[in-house]
Amino acid sequence: MSGSSIFSCRNIEFLKTLKFNDEELQTLTSIEQKEVEEDVFIKLSEFYNSQNNYSSAPDLIKHKHAIFLTNTLVRVSRGYEALDASRTWICYWVLHSLSLLDVKISDSVKTACAKFLAKCQNPTGGFGGGPGQISHLAPTYAAVNALIIIGTKEAYKVINREKLLDFLWSLKQENGSFCMHVDGEIDIRGVYCALSVASLTNIISDKLCENTAEWIISCQTYEGGFGGCPDMEAHGGYAFCGLAALIILGKQHLCDIQSLLRWLVHRQMRLEGGFQGRTNKLVDGCYSFWQGAAFAMIHNLLDSPPDNYLFDNKALQEYILICAQHAKGGLIDKPGKHRDEYHTCYVLSGLSIAQHFESDIQILGSPKNEVRTSHPVYNIRTDLLQKGIIYYRGNKLVEEL
Ligand code: FPP
Ligand code: ZN
Repeated sequence: MSGSSIFSCRNIEFLKTLKFNDEELQTLTSIEQKEVEEDVFIKLSEFYNSQNNYSSAPDLIKHKHAIFLTNTLVRVSRGYEALDASRTWICYWVLHSLSLLDVKISDSVKTACAKFLAKCQNPTGGFGGGPGQISHLAPTYAAVNALIIIGTKEAYKVINREKLLDFLWSLKQENGSFCMHVDGEIDIRGVYCALSVASLTNIISDKLCENTAEWIISCQTYEGGFGGCPDMEAHGGYAFCGLAALIILGKQHLCDIQSLLRWLVHRQMRLEGGFQGRTNKLVDGCYSFWQGAAFAMIHNLLDSPPDNYLFDNKALQEYILICAQHAKGGLIDKPGKHRDEYHTCYVLSGLSIAQHFESDIQILGSPKNEVRTSHPVYNIRTDLLQKGIIYYRGNKLVEEL
């Protein structure tokens, strides 16, 4: 890693000019926005005041984040009962975060994780959120990503690709969409998760993707972002899924990139520097990835891409380092919120996007703040992704039947 430092040019006086103006019309939304801005303003000004100049940023407290994450792999508290259907997700969030922090995972932990994920796989194909739970596309996506991050033959071999394909077919709808599980809801997450696991494990085919691009396009809204299904509100999580899925299909030209970009640039908050998920909502650290990755993907699709980021990557790094780190380790949504593995994963993933622009590396603060590069479509560290893709390309499904 060899990042070059970049400097923020914001200061307290400038921040004051960015505050939300409710034009003397108070609503619940405007009140909440002002409260969050105040919290963020205090955090940013405290930091600016503690500096002699504005040319630095706090450290990314990597060792504390690593301790928070590794503790989760060993033992979790009672409070985690509510995440019983998200256990493959916890594996993915933790392993991916550790990989971005460049923390080595021991062979015994790799084996334990691979064995646990194997228990979550159902004989009919796909993974449930935990052992004995029905197969569902979201935990299947998380399990496949986690196994690729583990990156051993033992882990790669866990996935029963023939059965995974059966599972994907059991969810496929004539209009091109996918249910999240048998008889479950249909939304754009289903399409992204299905195409992601199918492309990674080399079981994707034109037939499996018939009408899918057209269905995704029908989710792009008048605002330019994507909704969960046709006629729903545009949201960063769904915009990420829609764009990433179109890229996997190689059909990104079918969507209106200009209106998507226009919607996206308005999601970066003026004062906070982080992103909101949808119009008139609050900043949240996790959108650093969902929205940030969409910028990275769009950049590569433009006919004349600019020489720099399409968003303010310094302001985003500032929000992450100053407002979204929990003092005890782990990353958060916004000041005052609890730490959790989901936000730790997606805030770090967003930081990775904000630091790595093509081959240019722009690190706010110490070069030690650099995290590894994540792929914007799959959100897996790029070297681990490449290794996994090569493995599954070299191990044709037919040869294993
Ligand atoms: C709104 O939550 C959240 C949504 C409408 C969906 C979010 C979707 C994702 C994050 C993508 C999931 C992707 C995969 C791969 C499964 P909210 O109302 O609590 O938050 P908000 O106020 O920020 O909109
Ligand atoms: Zn969030």
